[in-house]
Amino acid sequence: MSAQVDPPEFDRHAATYDGGLDNPLKRMMGDADSFIAVKARWLLRREPGLRAGGVSLLDYGCGAGDLMRVLAGLGGRASFTGCDVSTGMLAEAAARWPATLGPAPALAPQAGARTPFADRQFDVATISAVLHHVPVPERPAVYAELGRVLRPGGRLYVFEHNPRNPLVRHVIARTPIDENAILLDAGEVQDGLLGSGRYEVETDYLMFMPPGLGWLRFVDRALAWLPLGAQYAVAARKPA
Ligand SMILES: C[S@@+](CC[C@H](N)C(=O)[O-])C[C@H]1O[C@@H](n2cnc3c(N)ncnc32)[C@H](O)[C@@H]1O
Repeated sequence: MSAQVDPPEFDRHAATYDGGLDNPLKRMMGDADSFIAVKARWLLRREPGLRAGGVSLLDYGCGAGDLMRVLAGLGGRASFTGCDVSTGMLAEAAARWPATLGPAPALAPQAGARTPFADRQFDVATISAVLHHVPVPERPAVYAELGRVLRPGGRLYVFEHNPRNPLVRHVIARTPIDENAILLDAGEVQDGLLGSGRYEVETDYLMFMPPGLGWLRFVDRALAWLPLGAQYAVAARKPA
C-alpha cells in the first residue's frame, strides 16, 4: 500500500479564499482587493518597469493569483507567472483572472519549495503572505529557490504581516486560514535571505491606515520607516 500524503493546507481553503476576510475586524478595514492593492501600488512605485511591460515576474505562492490580478488592474504590464504548492489555489487563480486583463498568468505547481523554472529565469520575484505558512525549518529552501530563479540584478520582494503590530497579532490569532501561521519579522526575512545569497536589502513598513481609507494613503508613505505598520516589504536586489 502506498503512503498517504496530506494535501497542501490551502487546497481546503481554495474555493472560498478571500485573504482572511472571514475575520470581522479585518473586514471592517477594507475589502480583500484593497489589502492587496496597498502592496501592488508600493510595487509599481518601486518597479516602474512594471508599467512599461517587458519584465518577467514570478509570484511564488501566488494562491488565487490576487497580487498579479490587482497589479494588472492597476496598470502592471509584466509577463506574469505564478506557482503554488496547492493545485486548488492554482485552479482558483486561473478561474478568477478576468479576460479583460489580457492573457492569464502562466501557472505551475511547486514540489515543496522547489519550482519547475529555469535558473535565472525571472527579472522580479514576489512572495506575499506565504512565509508565515511555511514551517520554520523549510524556509531556507524557499529563500534558496527564490535566489535560484532570479537573474543577476533581479529584484525580490517579500511581503509579510508584521508581528510587531499588536492588531496584526490579534487578527491572525482569530483567522481560520492562519491557524498554523508562525509570523516572522522583517529582520528574520533579511537574515534568511542573506543566509541564502548575496543581496542588497531594505525594508519598508506598509498599512498604517485601514486600506479601505484610500484618502489617507499619504500617511502610509510618510511612515514607511516606522516598524509598526501592519505589513512590511523587504526589497532584495541580487548583485549583477
Ligand atoms: C495566505 S496564502 C497567500 C496567497 C497569495 N500570495 C496572496 O498574497 O494572496 C498562502 C499561500 O502560500 C502557499 N504556499 C506556497 N508554498 C508553500 C509552502 N512551502 N508551505 C505552505 N504554503 C505554501 C499556499 O498554498 C497558499 O496559496
